[in-house]
Amino acid sequence: MTDCQGVAEGASTPMELYERLGAQGEKVRSLKSAKAEKAEVDAAVQLLLMLKMDYKRMTGQDYKAGCPPSDNVGAPNNGPAADGAGEEDTVDPWNVSTTNANGVDYDKLIVRFGSSKIDKELVDRIERVCGQKPHRFLRRGVFFSHRDMHQVLDAYEKHKSFYLYTGRGPSSEAMHVGHLIPFIFTKWLQDMFDIPLVIQLTDDEKYLWKDLTVEECHRFAIENAKDIIACGFDLNKTFIFSDLDYMGASPEFYRNVVKIQKHVTFNQVKGIFGFTDSDCIGKISFPAIQAAPSFSNSFPHIFGSRKDIQCLIPCAIDQDPYFRMTRDVAPRIGFPKPALLHSTFFPALQGAQTKMSASDANSSIFLTDAPKQIKNKINKHAFSGGKDTVEEHRKYGGNADVDVSFMYLTFFLEDDEQLEKIRQDYTSGALLTGELKKILIETLQPMIAQHQERRKQVTDEIVKQFMTPRPLNFKL
Ligand code: TRP
Repeated sequence: MTDCQGVAEGASTPMELYERLGAQGEKVRSLKSAKAEKAEVDAAVQLLLMLKMDYKRMTGQDYKAGCPPSDNVGAPNNGPAADGAGEEDTVDPWNVSTTNANGVDYDKLIVRFGSSKIDKELVDRIERVCGQKPHRFLRRGVFFSHRDMHQVLDAYEKHKSFYLYTGRGPSSEAMHVGHLIPFIFTKWLQDMFDIPLVIQLTDDEKYLWKDLTVEECHRFAIENAKDIIACGFDLNKTFIFSDLDYMGASPEFYRNVVKIQKHVTFNQVKGIFGFTDSDCIGKISFPAIQAAPSFSNSFPHIFGSRKDIQCLIPCAIDQDPYFRMTRDVAPRIGFPKPALLHSTFFPALQGAQTKMSASDANSSIFLTDAPKQIKNKINKHAFSGGKDTVEEHRKYGGNADVDVSFMYLTFFLEDDEQLEKIRQDYTSGALLTGELKKILIETLQPMIAQHQERRKQVTDEIVKQFMTPRPLNFKL
């Protein structure tokens, strides 16, 4: 092999080299598609290979488009896995699918994304720090992956507090039970740590991505805010905002957006999000808008001009690409990197191969469903791990790992012992599919009825209060 030392001269940091690699990859692609002279293509490919070797030498990692080097340690990637790990899974902000009936392989995702597992030690530590039994989502691995959570707890123990940031893209009026997962957990975190929370409603994002008007998206944001408020957030500690409103109202927020935009190249977002040359420029710049709430001075009415307050983001793992990008720019523009807690997806009724989607009525249980609809949907559509006949089921038992009703119970049934007993009885065949479904129906019906009751109490006036920029009540 030729000595390719020096190819990366002029690229003094892994980030610069990474960007040169992105540009060179693009050049190779365009030469090929323009059917350029073979010699020219070969030379460009040769340079690309040499840059890749330099990159490996500099970072100890293989170059992968979409994985900037600072978060690249431990080989994260949202693209195809070079080692074959989790290749059957697609996970990005717009697609979640797998060919595996058990669902996405989350351990492999941790390796691919380069995040850390929420292990027993971390769960125990959270319990020690907040002095309460950990939420069932932590006990059962619904929140399964994190970035920098130990650092957040180290600081918290030294009386250095933090704030929470989460969000939702309001693509329709109808929210389903899966949408509540991050909010239920965020509410628990807010109560445990007694800290402020900002919730971003990305009505701008939905306008850019969907065939909807600006007015519709804004209206969905307000409607969704009611369901979010119904989760029980504390008005004194929570600020909910629509991007369409807040971007224009807060110069500080927009300044951060612009700073982020200056520090991320088109190549990078192409690599991270798969944008192409025919995507509108609104999409290309949107990630900066989702990143900005990670920086405390985006909210001067809450944090004044402080830039140094640590942010913790609970979100589903498909949002991680946004925050990998955010963590990469943060130190370069003088902010701490946000920490993250990642959840698994909430499976569709039809099975764990994909997540629940609000656009398919039969794949979801909506927050507006009546008791009867809940019952019918579960009985009719919930994918069963049971056997075809009662005789066979009694003899061989069911498979709880692929059974959607059982999966839903792991999300919503509070009692650990009862859940374990259900698992054992289902596996042994003592519990039939119909009986398992009945337990789920009886768990979800009151839960959703209570949600509907609380939502009814949320008046337009209350929504307005939550969505008005104002000081919040907390000690840091
Ligand atoms: N993009 C997210 C969605 O489509 C919405 C969102 C914005 C979000 N900011 C967030 C989700 C922070 C989690 C955390 O749902």
